[in-house]
Amino acid sequence: MQFGFPLLPERVILRKFVSKNSTMEYQFNYNNELQGKIALVTGGTKGAGKAIAERLLQAGATVIITARNAPEEENSNLHFIPSDLSKAEGTQKVISEVLSTYGRLDILVNNLGSSSTPAGGFAALNDEDWESTLQANLLAPVRLDRGFLPQMIERKSGVIIHIASIQGKLPLYDSTLPYAASKAGLRNYSKSLSNEVTPKGIRVLTVSPGWINTTASEAWLGEIARNANSTVEEAQQSVMDALGGIPFGRPAEPKEVAEFVGFLVSPRAGYLTGTEFIIDGGTVPTI
Ligand SMILES: NC(=O)c1ccc[n+]([C@@H]2O[C@H](COP(=O)([O-])OP(=O)(O)OC[C@H]3O[C@@H](n4cnc5c(N)ncnc54)[C@H](OP(=O)(O)O)[C@@H]3O)[C@@H](O)[C@H]2O)c1
Repeated sequence: MQFGFPLLPERVILRKFVSKNSTMEYQFNYNNELQGKIALVTGGTKGAGKAIAERLLQAGATVIITARNAPEEENSNLHFIPSDLSKAEGTQKVISEVLSTYGRLDILVNNLGSSSTPAGGFAALNDEDWESTLQANLLAPVRLDRGFLPQMIERKSGVIIHIASIQGKLPLYDSTLPYAASKAGLRNYSKSLSNEVTPKGIRVLTVSPGWINTTASEAWLGEIARNANSTVEEAQQSVMDALGGIPFGRPAEPKEVAEFVGFLVSPRAGYLTGTEFIIDGGTVPTI
């Protein structure tokens, strides 16, 4: 299966009725629709973040990625800033470097998210587990948004995406209790922020993926298998069961999430703000 631009027509012209007798034409050129835009993708070296960074690059944006470690395969078109975003100094470093190098930021994709807490439910978790998870999943985006919003507001232009998770509304308690709670907080914060800054010209959106087939989710399955003394296949089945099954029959590929984010940050999604999009192959069983 092929995803991305080759599937799209090169150009679409939309006509907007301005008054009874006149129309205004908008032209969208998919291959260059982000030309001139500066974009930051946190956690852009692996998994969904890597796919999102490559998708925005393909659309013509200048793309900056961050992570603690350099990407395994170097892509000289992506500008890498090493940083631990779970720490206030790390987010400040990224904000300062981006603004001093590029002068502004147009698109912020808060993709970083992680969970490394032990299995065993509430009793297995200490304050440090809760704090580190909340730092990476909730406070990193909060600090980055706070750092980049002033210049967006000044220019009355910008898009902020928060990558949350279906665990924000369908929490699994065994090994991801703090992660699920932090993603629920992120969804709620994203809505509040949108209420505040959409009137100032900034679009704020939440994307909540279900299971994505990444190296991180593979490692997570391995950990579940080790803890339960089971095989990876049994661990996979236990996660599927806990989720109530995935009607589509498989996890998402990172490129499928990236394709949707590419659309959301583009001018084609110009009226979308303040809402959450779930991309989960039908996993969440309620409306
Ligand atoms: N995978 C899934 O099934 C799934 C499901 C629902 C939602 N999501 C969400 O989707 C997003 C992407 O997930 P993914 O599975 O694609 O992630 P991933 O493959 O684990 O990649 C995580 C990225 O974040 C970086 N990172 C981790 N901790 C960091 C820190 N403290 N500071 C800076 N960078 C850090 C990693 O690089 P370094 O380790 O080098 O820092 C890497 O680039 C996350 O928000 C996740 O919660 C994922």
